[in-house]
Amino acid sequence: MLIRTVLLCLLSLVAAGGDGNGNGNGKSNGNGKSNGKGHGKQPGRKPNIVLIITDDQDAGTHTREIMPRLFDRLVDNGVNYENFFTPVSLCCPSRVSLLRTQAAHNHNITNVELPHGGWVKFNNAGYVNHTMPDFLQAAGYNTYYVGKYMNDQTDKNCVDLPVSGFNASDMLVDPYTYDYWKPGFSVNNGPVEIHENTYSNDIVAQKGLAHLDSALASDRPFFVGFAPIGPHSYMNSTLRLSGSGRLYMDTPEWPERHDHMFKDAKLERTESFNPDEPMGVSWVKTLPKLNESNVEYLDEFYRGRLRSLQSVDEMVGQIFDKLEAAGALDNTYVIYTADNGFALGTHRRQPGKTLAFEEDIKVPLAIRGPGMPKGITDKVSSYGIVDLSRTFLDIAGAKPDYENDGTKINLHLGEGKLADKQYSKHRHSLTEFWVRGIEEGKFVDASYRENNTYRTLRVHDQVDGKPVTYSYHVWCTGERELYNLVSDPYQVRNILAPLNELGKFPAFDAGDVLDAQTQRVLHRLDALTLVLKTCKGQSCVEPYTTLFPSGKVNTLKDAMNRRYDEYFAALPKVHFDFCMLGYQSRLEQPEWKDELAFK
Ligand SMILES: *[C@@H]1O[C@H](CO)[C@@H](O)[C@H](O)[C@H]1NC(C)=O
Ligand SMILES: *[C@@H]1O[C@H](CO)[C@@H](O)[C@H](O)[C@H]1NC(C)=O
Ligand SMILES: *[C@@H]1O[C@H](CO)[C@@H](O)[C@H](O)[C@H]1NC(C)=O
Ligand SMILES: *[C@@H]1O[C@H](CO)[C@@H](O)[C@H](O)[C@H]1NC(C)=O
Ligand SMILES: *[C@@H]1O[C@H](CO)[C@@H](O)[C@H](O)[C@H]1NC(C)=O
Ligand SMILES: *[C@@H]1O[C@H](CO)[C@@H](O)[C@H](O)[C@H]1NC(C)=O
Repeated sequence: MLIRTVLLCLLSLVAAGGDGNGNGNGKSNGNGKSNGKGHGKQPGRKPNIVLIITDDQDAGTHTREIMPRLFDRLVDNGVNYENFFTPVSLCCPSRVSLLRTQAAHNHNITNVELPHGGWVKFNNAGYVNHTMPDFLQAAGYNTYYVGKYMNDQTDKNCVDLPVSGFNASDMLVDPYTYDYWKPGFSVNNGPVEIHENTYSNDIVAQKGLAHLDSALASDRPFFVGFAPIGPHSYMNSTLRLSGSGRLYMDTPEWPERHDHMFKDAKLERTESFNPDEPMGVSWVKTLPKLNESNVEYLDEFYRGRLRSLQSVDEMVGQIFDKLEAAGALDNTYVIYTADNGFALGTHRRQPGKTLAFEEDIKVPLAIRGPGMPKGITDKVSSYGIVDLSRTFLDIAGAKPDYENDGTKINLHLGEGKLADKQYSKHRHSLTEFWVRGIEEGKFVDASYRENNTYRTLRVHDQVDGKPVTYSYHVWCTGERELYNLVSDPYQVRNILAPLNELGKFPAFDAGDVLDAQTQRVLHRLDALTLVLKTCKGQSCVEPYTTLFPSGKVNTLKDAMNRRYDEYFAALPKVHFDFCMLGYQSRLEQPEWKDELAFK
């Protein structure tokens, strides 16, 4: 306990001492306690950050059986966050939220390519030189990155549109990004270098470990990002280049040494797996039941995902070996996460993401670092990628030059069982989507799904002393979904399905269809969505304070008080006028206005 307290004090010193110019660590160099390389536990030295971010890894694959080294080295020695979400279930927008510490409705990079997203839109938006790594550099960090950075960074534009904020970088560029056996990298913003017949995840590991060596050789604190494409679907770069032939996202590839693994693995046949009745809303409810060959393909696809993660797991082990050998582990935060989730077969789906079910939005988050408790699971808080980005900034004492939407993740939970009881204020997360849905795999008949625009709120809180978890989705089609995840963890019973059929929206005058308590919950969830869908800065972190400026209401539990029933019922309801691509705010009126706050 004493050691922990001392560490916590050191940490606060570090946070207080960061001057934003990188001079915070100079005084401690060569103070005798140093291990010679300058990366041991030294008073006043800012901690290092090592980020491992995988591509399309759902929280369901974040297990010890699948990733033993990750669990041995990181999870068992740190905190596992059970409720961690992507802001947008698509690589590019999610990665932009990480780089910009912003909700998607504030950065407005909403797709993987023009006109609504991708690297060119990111450049046009003026975000280059204003990203989290730029701010870490300004705070004295050496910064390195290897792997997938952003979609639509291509062999054609990688020299003319350089990335900012890194001392050295090896970015995977299109059309080679998802070609496991022919990856192409832009090294330090140079022209593409193609690696024939070498496994992508292994090159990412090798290049990243070399960056880690450079980082460890310097006296400055560092950020190193490892972004392998595993377990993303495979795309053949030759076919992508030629634009001809059958082009689809197929089973991920793995190296020969993992051929023997997971031979018997199968997707879990949960309640939502290929159900007899159609489910969900919009295009999802039109999906036919999958036949046997399709289901077999999904199982094989799943095994490919697990095998492609093995090289990532090996990389995690190598990262820890290196940090340990350098004596740097005690002053380094190591973070494992993914950009968005992935679904296979649930609700009759082909492989893919882009929806708001748990499989699509829930991703791994495990953090090990100085002073953090070991082997604890935070089951209480709810955080997202934007908060992770904010946490990096706070660890480094760095500041963006614009308003950011994140809150620092609670890294220092109480020991043992305390963590389960601790009441964290941050219990909500917003996921947004404004472009077409995408399905993957060889059985996909349409390349895109129209009408895939929605706003989703996920709340994990307490009502009447009992834990509640709700997932509330408002769609551009006028439909809504509400799932009670405590009684319906697989999201097979949309509580609002009867209202969708009756066209009861947006007023929710539904006392005849919903029980009174559900109706009260619905009004509260909609109000939170109303605030969050245009939130900026602190209102994204504390939406209840926006509704109740008095500060007396901070949680769903507080908000459920009957004295607020009339207030919540009278608030305007979130809805879209119709489905359109891109974030079109005029179609999403009303917007929250401070006059709507409780008086
Ligand atoms: C977001 O970008 C789209 C283009 O992708 C544009 O049409 C829209 O007006 C932008 N939305 C906002 C709120 O700036
Ligand atoms: C980013 O900063 C560098 C260095 O100051 C500058 O050369 C470059 O033009 C900037 N890029 C953009 C897009 O502003
Ligand atoms: C990394 O880049 C920053 C900003 O340009 C610079 O101050 C620092 O010296 C560089 N570090 C190394 C090891 O080159
Ligand atoms: C990629 O497609 C090309 C052209 O059809 C083909 O020759 C090649 O074998 C494919 N590569 C893989 C690894 O399947
Ligand atoms: C199974 O379903 C897929 C996708 O709809 C279809 O392409 C395929 O022909 C079907 N196979 C059989 C054996 O019915
Ligand atoms: C999209 O939703 C609208 C209702 O907003 C509906 O009229 C239209 O048929 C839907 N389009 C598709 C392709 O499902």
